[in-house]
Amino acid sequence: MKADEDNVGRPPGTVEMLYSAAEIGARVGALATEIADNMGPDIMVVAVLKGSFVFTADLLRALHHHGVHPRIDFMTLSSYGTGTQSSGDVIITRDITDDVHGAKILLIDDILESGRTLAFARELLEARGAEVVQLCVLLDKPEKRKIDVNADYVGFAIGDAFVVGYGLDYAHYYRELPYIGSLDLNSG
Ligand code: IMP
Ligand code: MG
Repeated sequence: MKADEDNVGRPPGTVEMLYSAAEIGARVGALATEIADNMGPDIMVVAVLKGSFVFTADLLRALHHHGVHPRIDFMTLSSYGTGTQSSGDVIITRDITDDVHGAKILLIDDILESGRTLAFARELLEARGAEVVQLCVLLDKPEKRKIDVNADYVGFAIGDAFVVGYGLDYAHYYRELPYIGSLDLNSG
């Protein structure tokens, strides 16, 4: 049997922890306080799938403790394929189904990198008549920005590492990790 056949079904590389589950939990709680104070209880949440699903689930439950009772919808956007480099073009693979006209929207994504994904999503929601669109991301990579867009709420700012866990994937692996770590594809 060839070596690469042996590895089918195994996550590639090794992961070094950057933020523990406890650190993430504390940060999510602080973000919820900030968001509830700024936006109030009557908001609509649009989560960009797939990477934000774990962050969104935790953040929504933290927001509940501040009396926030959002409408929640999901949008699947893709610019990545299965590699570690963005292809540049953003496509909608699943759109929201709810009406956003006049809504105060909290747009949630896992990572703000080039800015293309969130710039695209925000413009789309504004064009459909959203009154306000604020951006919330778990992670920000400010050094990698290609488009002038900033998040209103940021979990952690990081450098140029490719990160996985807590919803974030490499080739659909690692989303289940309860922590965030950097991926090294040259070992493991
Ligand atoms: P942007 O459009 O370049 O800002 O890219 C944002 C999207 O790329 C995120 O929603 C992620 O899905 C993906 N992405 C960017 N960096 C990483 C990473 O380090 N790990 C996993 N996914 C990433
Ligand atoms: Mg994503």
